[in-house]
Amino acid sequence: MTKKSTSKSRVSKGASTVEAGSGSATPVDELDETAARDELERLAAQIAQHDALYYREDAPEISDAEYDALRARNDAIEARFPELVRDDSPSRRVGAAPVAAFGKVRHTVPMLSLGNAFDDEAVTAFGERVRRFLKLSEADLLEITAEPKIDGLSISIRYEAGQLVQAATRGDGTEGENVTANVKTIKEIPGRLHGKDVPEVIDVRGEIYLSHTDFAHLNARQAESGGKIFANPRNAAAGSLRQLDASITARRPLRFFAYAWGEASQLPDETQSGVVAAFKRWGFPVNPLMNTCKGADQLVAYYRDMQEKRSKLGYDIDGVVYKVNRLDYQERLGFVSRSPRWAIAHKFPAEQATTVLRDIEIQVGRTGALTPVAKLEPVTVGGVVVSNATLHNEDEIARKDIRIGDTVVIQRAGDVIPQVVGVVEDKRPKNAAPFKFPHVCPVCQSHAVRESDEKGGEDVVRRCTGGLICPAQAKERLKHFVSRNALDIEGLGEEKIELFYDEGLIRRPADIFTLQARDEKSANPLAGRKGFGQRSVEKMFVAIEARRRVPLERFVYALGIRHIGETTAKDLARAYGTWEALRSSVEAAVKDGKGSETYAEIDNIEGIGETVVDALVDFFSEEHNAQALGKLLEQIEVAPFERVSTTRSPVTGKTVVFTGTLVRLTRNEAKAQAERFGAKVAGSVSKKTDYVVAGADAGSKLDKARDLGVAVLTEDAWLELIGQG
Ligand code: IVH
Repeated sequence: MTKKSTSKSRVSKGASTVEAGSGSATPVDELDETAARDELERLAAQIAQHDALYYREDAPEISDAEYDALRARNDAIEARFPELVRDDSPSRRVGAAPVAAFGKVRHTVPMLSLGNAFDDEAVTAFGERVRRFLKLSEADLLEITAEPKIDGLSISIRYEAGQLVQAATRGDGTEGENVTANVKTIKEIPGRLHGKDVPEVIDVRGEIYLSHTDFAHLNARQAESGGKIFANPRNAAAGSLRQLDASITARRPLRFFAYAWGEASQLPDETQSGVVAAFKRWGFPVNPLMNTCKGADQLVAYYRDMQEKRSKLGYDIDGVVYKVNRLDYQERLGFVSRSPRWAIAHKFPAEQATTVLRDIEIQVGRTGALTPVAKLEPVTVGGVVVSNATLHNEDEIARKDIRIGDTVVIQRAGDVIPQVVGVVEDKRPKNAAPFKFPHVCPVCQSHAVRESDEKGGEDVVRRCTGGLICPAQAKERLKHFVSRNALDIEGLGEEKIELFYDEGLIRRPADIFTLQARDEKSANPLAGRKGFGQRSVEKMFVAIEARRRVPLERFVYALGIRHIGETTAKDLARAYGTWEALRSSVEAAVKDGKGSETYAEIDNIEGIGETVVDALVDFFSEEHNAQALGKLLEQIEVAPFERVSTTRSPVTGKTVVFTGTLVRLTRNEAKAQAERFGAKVAGSVSKKTDYVVAGADAGSKLDKARDLGVAVLTEDAWLELIGQG
């Protein structure tokens, strides 16, 4: 039996992300440049979103393994197309930006992350890499420390003259949140350091975490008081630390291990283990299981030992960390992009358990994607009780032949949404039938179909064709419309959208802006209803009013058109400047169809590929959307895109295409600079191109420019032209 569900689309988002990161995606070496660029854009947006959920909201939606798969794919594509590495690439960024409510702290020495080793070979390779880099001979001793990787949140605590003066979260690695008041309430963190060798200035870094027992007690107390239940100790620790009211933090039994440092006026020793020993003398808790090893074999033995001890430690660890012990070696090894060359994390595989699959629920997402969710007999995996797991999609269920009533193996890796790995066939009940994935939407009963993808194959996702007729899709689209990166209407969150939709108060975006007028005349006004205070209702209406004028890029993103994430929305806004210009261009493309000049014009915009043009055309051709848009635009005004202070220059209004490898600027820098000087940057050469700037190894675009007689400039000549030579 399948059940109807209109619950939030968290799982479906997670599941669709998994597909991008795993088997069903095109192999990296088969990607062409356009596909690679599109995918890097999508990955950057997806990873940023998951970073924000993890770091900023303490509410991750995908498992670490899925997240790692996304990053690994991003890295692999970048390795093949180094020229496509984006300025906002996840490989150049760590964590998420700080929340405004806390003050910001700039880390004088950035807080970076660690590279990952997923198997023994990668550990051996790490040792070899280090030796090669340092030009050590076989006979030279290379000590490497090994210690548990604590699954908490990292913190940098600054001491001046031995006094705790500031504490900051990691944030995006460069800038974190000022949580000094909160950290001062943590008993395990000394407010004052004692010892002859305490330096004048030192940032002590380590992990804040909660023990399993304290986590269980905290959740029990939360349940009693109707507070938030945390999914795992990490989230609970993060949530406890990032309280605006430090007295709440003080009541949470947060714990700490010191394991690293940032700025230091002087260090108490010449080795990693020596500095950590000093931390201990100065009054910090340090992990008692830290060890110094020689050679990869000892590291791997340490890892196995930790795997065995893991469940008895009383706190979550998600792997072990290896660090080159000598600090002069660390110095020489330095960093690559976001991680040190002298350290690596060796992650544990996900934890598994078996349980009974009671039902398969089908959830419907914003774009109509039907996502199967396993409803399980509750079971404890790695200290957390699990009752839901993702089943990804129809093919996965068929491939693994998962049936309701089956005993299934589930897996979780420090995450919120576990996955069903497989079935224990011996335990299958006799009457269990293969699962029939519905071909109609469980919410609106419209047909649910699998479209063909770009290559003519079948899409893995089955989608409800009901569009806005489907309440589930309509609700998800409305939620997206008001969400933080879209219209950002505070006080009108997911729950209110559900409620207002069900009551018929808000059925499409325009209704949001007429709600107040209708409410004033209503016999049953919102204020005074259960769960609605006078003040909160007023605040919500103020927030709605404040959004009657929205920036073009937010508006485009808010429409929730498939394949149009924030970056693409911004690319479109930048290229067109106004809503009217964008609309008339897309409408022309709708009329003229694929292959037309108007169609190609949109395709030609830097950052925009065919998939996006198709999605735009589809969206505008849909009568419901046209109507909903019309109604919405009666209510709100779309503000033109604000260019960051463009300078009038000889290239203002000209169209330029960059091709080949540039030497003095990255492609993205060149693009941003050209736009600052008022030029439009296009992705391909046409009659409308004014300049082609050709770097080394320029290929077909250069040939085309020559064919069409378009002016070709070297990088230097271009910089000269814009007065930057
Ligand atoms: S060393 C420059 N040691 O893992 C690297 N990190 O992905 C400094 N972590 O952000 C980090 N236990 O939050 C280090 N024993 C340990 C750790 C550890 C947990 C976390 C830390 C860091 C992340 C790296």
